[in-house]
Formats: sequence, C-alpha cells, structure tokens
Amino acid sequence: MSDVKNFKLYVDGEWVNSVSGETFLSDNPAKPKQILGIFQKGNQEDINKAVEAAEKAFEVWSQTPAPKRGLILLRTAQLLRENKKSLAREMTMEMGKIIAEARGDVQEAIDITEYMAGEGRRLFGFTTPSELRKKFCMTIRMPVGICGLITPWNFPMAIPSWKIMTALICGNTIVFKPSSDTPLCATRLVEALEEAGLPKGVLNMVTGPGDTAGMSLVRHNKVEVISFTGHKDTGTSILREAGLKRVGLEMGGKNGIIIMDDANLDLAVDGVIWGGYGTTGQRCTAASRVIVHDRIKEKFETMLIKRIKKLKLGDGLEPDTDIGPLINKAAQEKSAKYVEVGKNEGAKLLIGGKVPKTDGFFFAPTLFADCSVDMRIAQEEIFGPIVSLISVGDFDEAIEAINSIEYGLSSAIYTNDVSKAFEAITRIEAGLTYINSSTIGSEVHLPFGGIKHTGLGAREGGIEGINEFSEIKTVYVDYSGKLQKAQIDLA
Ligand code: UN1
Repeated sequence: MSDVKNFKLYVDGEWVNSVSGETFLSDNPAKPKQILGIFQKGNQEDINKAVEAAEKAFEVWSQTPAPKRGLILLRTAQLLRENKKSLAREMTMEMGKIIAEARGDVQEAIDITEYMAGEGRRLFGFTTPSELRKKFCMTIRMPVGICGLITPWNFPMAIPSWKIMTALICGNTIVFKPSSDTPLCATRLVEALEEAGLPKGVLNMVTGPGDTAGMSLVRHNKVEVISFTGHKDTGTSILREAGLKRVGLEMGGKNGIIIMDDANLDLAVDGVIWGGYGTTGQRCTAASRVIVHDRIKEKFETMLIKRIKKLKLGDGLEPDTDIGPLINKAAQEKSAKYVEVGKNEGAKLLIGGKVPKTDGFFFAPTLFADCSVDMRIAQEEIFGPIVSLISVGDFDEAIEAINSIEYGLSSAIYTNDVSKAFEAITRIEAGLTYINSSTIGSEVHLPFGGIKHTGLGAREGGIEGINEFSEIKTVYVDYSGKLQKAQIDLA
C-alpha cells in the first residue's frame, strides 16, 4: 500500500493529520481491492480546532463585500470546469456512478458555484414604505455564523457544493464533514476552493466518522447552522443533539411515478428506467414506486422488463455500462434483504433480485409487481435498484397511493390529460413534482427539498437556499429629526 496517497484534514488553511493519527481507506466499489487513498479519521479534537479556525476567519470573511466573495466562487467554478474530466473519473472510481452521471455531478457543482457567484451581486433584501413620514424601511441579509455541513456520498460534489457555495456567498464560515465513502471527491472540492484563493479558516474540512466527528460538530456550541443530507435515522439524532441551532435536514424519499392510462408509455418507460435505476437507485429522488393504471398494467410491465433485460451492469468507467455498483457491501446486503422482504410480503418478483458473482458491490436491477401500498418494499427507502409496481383503478386511487408514505421529496406523473396533470400538481404531497418526466433532474436555480418526514422543510438551491444560510435584518432609518411613534402617530 506504499503507493497509496495519504490525504489530510484541511484546518485553518493547512493540510494536517488528525490529532489521533488514526486513518481510514476509501476504495472503489466496482473493484473493492483498489484503494484510492488513506484519509484522516478526525474526531472531536479536530472539530474543535476547525471550529476555532472558522470563528477566527468569520470576522474578515463576513465583512468581505459579497461581490468579492463571488469572484472566488467564479474562479472555483473555472477550476472545476478545467478539471471536470479527471474529477468525474475519480468520482466514478470512488463511488461507482457511471461516468456520464459523474460528469453531471461535477457539472451540477459548477452550476451552483456559478449561480452563487452571481448571487454575490444580488443577495437582495427589500425596501418598502414606512407608515410614517421621513422614515425609510428595508431588509438586509446577514451571515448566520459558523455552518456545519454534513454531506452524503451519492452526489459527492454537487451536494457539498449546494451547501458550501451558498454558505460562503452569504458570508458564513464552514466546517465541512463529508461522507466517509467519498472523502477523495470532498478533498478535490476543497482543493479547488483553496486554489481559487479562499482565505484560510473560511472553509475547514474534517473527514471522519459520523458518530464522532459529525456529532461533535452538531453539538458544538459555536456552530450556528447544521445542514445535513443523508439517512433519516442520522437526521433524527442530529435534530435531537443540535440544541438551538438552525437545522436543515434532507432525509430521503420513497418517490413515486404515476402512469395514467393515457400516458405516452415509451416516455414513461424511459422515466422509470432513469428514475428507478439511475445511480443504481441511490438517489434521494429515485423513483422506487411506480403507480400504474390497471388498464395498461400488463403492457407496461412487459415493456419495462424488456428494457431492464438490456441494462448492462459494470464498472462505470466503461462507456457501455448502464448501472454501476452500490456504494459498499452493507448497501448490497440491504438490497438483498429487501428482495427477501418483498418476496415474503407476497410481491411478485418479475426480474432481478440477485447479487452477480463479481468482486464489486453490484446488484441486478430488480422489479416487483403486485405490490400493495403498505408493503415494506413500497414504504421504506432501500437506496438500491429495486422498483415496486402498484396498480390502481383510477386517478384518485393513484393520488392516494403516491401520498401514502411518510416521505415527501419527489414525484412524477405521466399523462396527456392537462386537467389531471394540474390536479396532480396540487394534490401530490411532495417538494418536487415532475410532469411527463422522471423524479430526478432538479436544477440549481430552483429550490430542492421535501415535506413530511423528508425533512424540516429546508430548501437548497436558488433564493430559498440563500434563505437557509442568511439572517434577515430589518432596518428603520428615521430622518425626520424628531421622535416618531409607529402605531401611535396616526395623523
Ligand atoms: C439526491 O437525490 O440526493 O435531481 C439529489 C436530481 C439531482 C439531485 C439529487 N439534481 O436527481
């Protein structure tokens, strides 16, 4: 292992070892014997140092004019663009995403970075008339403080960038705790920001376990914001431990696609394949439930099976691969377990359900039919390539089925009936609804986030993302030269 590179924590502008000296490895899920790097196992002491650095840097960064902060983001975006190919390659090796999707992930990071760079020249507040003469009213945006950002591995550059770039443009400083499955991608992102000229201490990165590094960040009393994307159980403990911090949680989904009997079925098949099996089903926005009208059920199943049979599993670097591996062994075991759960619940396994005989953490694309809405495979987030078909008799039943889950992230409906499409927009309980398109494909200038148990209603991207990372201050300027009393001086 002598040729494997040793990566560091990034604290106060320095690349350093963890205080404990302990390390962990990052491997390639398509070829688990391939080690991509040795990473520092940060813990509470490293977090304390990182928070201290972020606190010191806050004074200067929060007072730096936002357009100047934007210039650093713009340079970061340029660097990411120049290195897009190699960043995507490394991402495929570290998390198994097929290369085209890895490029999309880096592109999404570039997009949000550019968007937030431009936001440096907006960061709008508003002005409004006062009820009194010679008095001026406005709102301005202030940074919140030190932000603890805890991110998942499934979008290892895009999701950290949603949080980092937004927090930065608003003038906050950061302690970033990336997923232990993708520390290399996280390191590359931090390197780009460093190279672009981000002052020391403004962004600090501590790699390490969630229960020590992550939770120390969550509990730290100098941290004002925790923004987390990941599993519901972790999010729930974060909420319990965070105290009086501002907490943003995005904790997944069990997203459904409704396919009405008047839908363009070829288009709907494309949507289910992309939504259900893209990123090997490892998206919070994955379409893991397909709610299909009885009248077209059999035809649709046949069409879908035909397409699934053609999907090629393999290393994401191979250009003809359609589906890469799952992230790790535990994820592979989880998918296998849910196949058993589905069978025992009485769902009909139409195709897949198997672990192929390879070293990598692959799992065959799997389709269950005859599922009822209350089965576990139709209720619980699996995060694997497993889709459950639920058939319904009419539109109202379809709406009831799509809403009968605890989550509320993404959703879709395929129909050519405009009235039904609009009715679906208002009746589906989710943060995102797509019409005649799959459950995935959000864009960075629009809000992204969910309702119900997906989170606390936080949104990322666009102006709503800015709201998560800024405080609004209301300002009154009285230039009348006398004491004026609101609500009392009525004349
Ligand atoms: C996620 O699923 O965790 O819309 C994020 C999409 C991506 C982001 C997904 N732009 O699928």
